[in-house]
Amino acid sequence: MSVEINYQIDLNSGKLGIIEFKKLNFSPRRLYWISDLIPGSIRGNHAHKTLRQAMFVIAGSINIKLYEGDKEIFRKLEPSGQVLYIEPGIWREFWTDEPGSVVFVLCDQPFNESDYIRDFHEYIAWFKAKNEC
Ligand code: TYD
Repeated sequence: MSVEINYQIDLNSGKLGIIEFKKLNFSPRRLYWISDLIPGSIRGNHAHKTLRQAMFVIAGSINIKLYEGDKEIFRKLEPSGQVLYIEPGIWREFWTDEPGSVVFVLCDQPFNESDYIRDFHEYIAWFKAKNEC
Protein backbone atom coordinates (compact mmCIF):
# COMPACT_ATOMS: atom_id res chain seq x y z
CA MET A 1 0.00 0.00 0.00
CA SER A 2 2.95 2.34 0.40
CA VAL A 3 5.93 2.86 -1.84
CA GLU A 4 9.28 4.60 -1.64
CA ILE A 5 9.44 7.60 -3.90
CA ASN A 6 12.78 9.25 -3.73
CA TYR A 7 11.60 12.76 -3.13
CA GLN A 8 14.03 14.12 -0.60
CA ILE A 9 17.58 15.26 -1.29
CA ASP A 10 19.78 16.51 1.53
CA LEU A 11 21.58 19.67 0.45
CA ASN A 12 24.04 21.51 2.64
CA SER A 13 21.55 24.33 3.01
CA GLY A 14 18.49 22.13 3.70
CA LYS A 15 16.32 19.50 2.01
CA LEU A 16 14.70 19.38 -1.40
CA GLY A 17 11.63 17.24 -2.00
CA ILE A 18 10.45 15.91 -5.36
CA ILE A 19 7.68 13.67 -6.64
CA GLU A 20 7.97 12.55 -10.25
CA PHE A 21 4.31 12.02 -11.16
CA LYS A 22 5.25 9.28 -13.64
CA LYS A 23 6.28 7.17 -10.63
CA LEU A 24 2.76 7.33 -9.19
CA ASN A 25 0.19 4.73 -10.20
CA PHE A 26 -2.35 7.42 -11.20
CA SER A 27 -2.40 10.90 -12.75
CA PRO A 28 -3.04 13.55 -10.10
CA ARG A 29 -5.81 16.10 -10.74
CA ARG A 30 -5.92 17.68 -7.27
CA LEU A 31 -3.50 18.41 -4.45
CA TYR A 32 -4.63 19.40 -0.98
CA TRP A 33 -2.68 19.74 2.22
CA ILE A 34 -3.43 19.56 5.89
CA SER A 35 -1.62 21.77 8.39
CA ASP A 36 -2.14 23.23 11.87
CA LEU A 37 -3.37 19.84 13.02
CA ILE A 38 -4.22 19.81 16.69
CA PRO A 39 -2.22 16.95 18.26
CA GLY A 40 -4.52 14.06 19.21
CA SER A 41 -7.52 15.28 17.24
CA ILE A 42 -8.78 12.65 14.79
CA ARG A 43 -9.17 13.52 11.10
CA GLY A 44 -10.32 11.54 8.12
CA ASN A 45 -13.08 9.29 9.45
CA HIS A 46 -14.22 8.48 5.96
CA ALA A 47 -13.71 6.27 2.93
CA HIS A 48 -13.94 7.12 -0.75
CA LYS A 49 -15.93 4.96 -3.17
CA THR A 50 -13.74 5.66 -6.22
CA LEU A 51 -11.05 8.23 -5.36
CA ARG A 52 -7.39 7.19 -5.44
CA GLN A 53 -5.00 9.12 -3.26
CA ALA A 54 -1.30 9.32 -2.42
CA MET A 55 -0.45 10.81 0.96
CA PHE A 56 2.91 12.03 2.23
CA VAL A 57 4.19 14.08 5.12
CA ILE A 58 6.57 16.99 4.61
CA ALA A 59 6.94 18.02 8.27
CA GLY A 60 6.33 16.25 11.60
CA SER A 61 4.52 12.93 11.38
CA ILE A 62 1.09 11.39 11.26
CA ASN A 63 -0.33 8.14 12.58
CA ILE A 64 -2.88 6.57 10.29
CA LYS A 65 -5.29 3.67 10.75
CA LEU A 66 -6.57 2.14 7.52
CA TYR A 67 -9.45 -0.31 7.29
CA GLU A 68 -10.07 -2.58 4.34
CA GLY A 69 -13.45 -3.76 5.56
CA ASP A 70 -12.74 -4.85 9.12
CA LYS A 71 -9.04 -5.57 8.43
CA GLU A 72 -7.05 -2.86 10.20
CA ILE A 73 -3.54 -1.59 9.34
CA PHE A 74 -1.56 1.04 11.25
CA ARG A 75 1.13 3.21 9.65
CA LYS A 76 3.26 6.08 10.89
CA LEU A 77 4.17 8.52 8.11
CA GLU A 78 7.25 10.70 8.35
CA PRO A 79 9.10 12.84 5.80
CA SER A 80 11.22 9.90 4.73
CA GLY A 81 10.46 9.54 1.02
CA GLN A 82 7.47 7.27 1.66
CA VAL A 83 4.22 7.88 -0.15
CA LEU A 84 1.17 6.02 1.11
CA TYR A 85 -1.30 4.97 -1.57
CA ILE A 86 -4.88 4.89 -0.41
CA GLU A 87 -6.92 2.94 -2.92
CA PRO A 88 -10.72 3.37 -3.23
CA GLY A 89 -12.81 1.66 -0.53
CA ILE A 90 -10.38 2.19 2.38
CA TRP A 91 -11.59 3.80 5.61
CA ARG A 92 -8.96 6.08 7.16
CA GLU A 93 -8.48 7.82 10.50
CA PHE A 94 -5.37 9.84 11.22
CA TRP A 95 -3.89 12.10 13.87
CA THR A 96 -0.60 13.66 14.80
CA ASP A 97 1.36 13.71 18.03
CA GLU A 98 3.58 16.55 16.79
CA PRO A 99 2.59 20.20 16.41
CA GLY A 100 3.61 21.62 13.02
CA SER A 101 2.94 18.44 11.05
CA VAL A 102 2.03 18.98 7.39
CA VAL A 103 0.44 16.34 5.14
CA PHE A 104 0.07 16.54 1.36
CA VAL A 105 -2.53 14.48 -0.51
CA LEU A 106 -2.58 13.92 -4.27
CA CYS A 107 -5.89 12.79 -5.77
CA ASP A 108 -6.95 11.45 -9.17
CA GLN A 109 -10.29 13.32 -9.19
CA PRO A 110 -11.71 16.73 -8.31
CA PHE A 111 -13.51 17.14 -4.97
CA ASN A 112 -16.88 15.39 -4.89
CA GLU A 113 -18.74 15.03 -1.59
CA SER A 114 -20.90 12.22 -2.99
CA ASP A 115 -17.78 10.03 -3.30
CA TYR A 116 -17.40 10.05 0.51
CA ILE A 117 -18.77 7.53 3.02
CA ARG A 118 -18.62 9.26 6.40
CA ASP A 119 -20.30 6.69 8.65
CA PHE A 120 -18.26 3.61 9.63
CA HIS A 121 -21.28 1.24 9.83
CA GLU A 122 -22.41 2.43 6.41
CA TYR A 123 -18.84 1.84 5.16
CA ILE A 124 -18.79 -1.77 6.43
CA ALA A 125 -22.19 -2.46 4.83
CA TRP A 126 -20.99 -0.86 1.54
CA PHE A 127 -17.73 -2.86 1.64
CA LYS A 128 -19.54 -6.19 2.25
CA ALA A 129 -22.07 -5.49 -0.52
CA LYS A 130 -19.25 -4.56 -2.95
CA ASN A 131 -17.32 -7.75 -2.19
CA GLU A 132 -20.37 -10.00 -2.52
CA CYS A 133 -20.87 -8.87 -6.13
P1 TYD B 1 -12.22 15.97 4.63
O1 TYD B 1 -11.81 15.33 3.34
O2 TYD B 1 -13.26 15.28 5.47
O3 TYD B 1 -10.94 16.27 5.54
P2 TYD B 1 -9.91 15.29 6.33
O4 TYD B 1 -9.86 13.97 5.62
O5 TYD B 1 -8.61 16.02 6.26
O6 TYD B 1 -10.38 15.16 7.74
O7 TYD B 1 -12.70 17.46 4.28
C1 TYD B 1 -12.97 18.41 5.31
C2 TYD B 1 -13.87 19.50 4.71
O8 TYD B 1 -13.20 20.17 3.65
C3 TYD B 1 -15.17 18.96 4.16
O9 TYD B 1 -16.20 19.90 4.48
C4 TYD B 1 -14.98 18.97 2.66
C5 TYD B 1 -13.97 20.09 2.44
N1 TYD B 1 -13.07 19.82 1.30
C6 TYD B 1 -13.21 20.52 0.11
O10 TYD B 1 -14.10 21.40 -0.02
N2 TYD B 1 -12.38 20.26 -0.95
C7 TYD B 1 -11.40 19.33 -0.87
O11 TYD B 1 -10.62 19.12 -1.86
C8 TYD B 1 -11.25 18.60 0.37
C9 TYD B 1 -10.18 17.54 0.53
C10 TYD B 1 -12.11 18.87 1.42
